[in-house]
Amino acid sequence: MYTDKVMDHFSNPRNVGEIDDANGVGEVGNASCGDIMKIFLKVEDDIIKDVKFKTFGCGAAIATSSMVTEMAIGKTLDEAWKLSNEAVAEALDGLPSQKMHCSNLAADALHEAIKNYRENKA
Ligand code: FES
Repeated sequence: MYTDKVMDHFSNPRNVGEIDDANGVGEVGNASCGDIMKIFLKVEDDIIKDVKFKTFGCGAAIATSSMVTEMAIGKTLDEAWKLSNEAVAEALDGLPSQKMHCSNLAADALHEAIKNYRENKA
């Protein structure tokens, strides 16, 4: 039921961990399943130079976290802001419909981290 890309990012997640000198951090939880995701950003000159994540959650949550970090690295904050959960799921060649909510976690955590960076800067 999972695509090869989902299985790859689940078994071998990219960018796992924390960034010690992160300047944007976002954490979200999924009220229905209790899963939690935290994203750390290192932003320089409005470009996302590095992203790391920690996810306590299901396989789809881990795969979407891993994919969203890969998609966000190198993007401007405005470009990364536009990354949607559908885009993340599409990049994984799709998720089973009952697992689409897991991809919200990844996109929301990224958006929270961008918001946090902008608040810190203001
Ligand atoms: Fe909770 Fe997937 S079941 S994020």
